[in-house]
Amino acid sequence: MVTICNYISIRNLLQERTAMTTILHIASSSNLHNSVSREIGAATVERLKEADPDAKVITRDLVQHLVPHIDPAFVGAMFTNHDAPELALSRTLIAEVMASDILVIEAPMYNFNIPSVLKAWIDHVVRGGITVKYGAAGVEGQLKGKKAVLVLGRGGVYADGPMKAMDYQETYLRTVLGFVGITDIEVVIIEGVTMGPEKRAEALANARAKIAMITSRKAA
Ligand SMILES: Cc1cc2nc3c(=O)[nH]c(=O)nc-3n(C[C@H](O)[C@H](O)[C@H](O)COP(=O)(O)O)c2cc1C
Repeated sequence: MVTICNYISIRNLLQERTAMTTILHIASSSNLHNSVSREIGAATVERLKEADPDAKVITRDLVQHLVPHIDPAFVGAMFTNHDAPELALSRTLIAEVMASDILVIEAPMYNFNIPSVLKAWIDHVVRGGITVKYGAAGVEGQLKGKKAVLVLGRGGVYADGPMKAMDYQETYLRTVLGFVGITDIEVVIIEGVTMGPEKRAEALANARAKIAMITSRKAA
């Protein structure tokens, strides 16, 4: 159920666009049954769709439909021929990002970082001369104006305390998105989920509250 207040604020997140909004929904948890990032990521997309039923959703499930690691043919072509057949999937993935207004990126923490399936997707999307250009003014990301919502699952707790320095998940995603020009980033963290059922339930409740908070902050 969307309240009027939340409806207005989600519309604000969608920036009252006149053209149809496109949401790119990326899943990367290898857990298909009770993944917290999948649960909260789906809830985020659901709320955006409730607010804008005409919004188009492109789904990339990087576990159920693997994006391969880049290989020698890919690297050979990326410096010589942007139209090479070896880069066809890269062009498709980049086109999906370019067509999108909001990226909802789900990422569980695996060994302090993002899953390798998500990293493989990033290696296809972050391309010199296409999504990032190098000019007289330095590095210029080509994906400016897009928003990202990061939905981050973690077994332990990293937001504060001694583990904070070991978080290469949020820090890396912010860095690489910023590199291609995406700096309007909201983060929904679901952490401590392997520290018992109560902690997990609390983390999920906090994440749902964060989704609501994001939308009301956008309205302010
Ligand atoms: C391969 C693997 C590595 C993991 N590494 C970490 C880690 O470094 N730190 C952590 O806090 N949790 C770690 N976890 C726990 C997950 O982050 C936690 O289960 C989280 O719920 C995953 O998100 P998901 O439920 O969306 O899959 C790991 C889990 C797996 C399967």
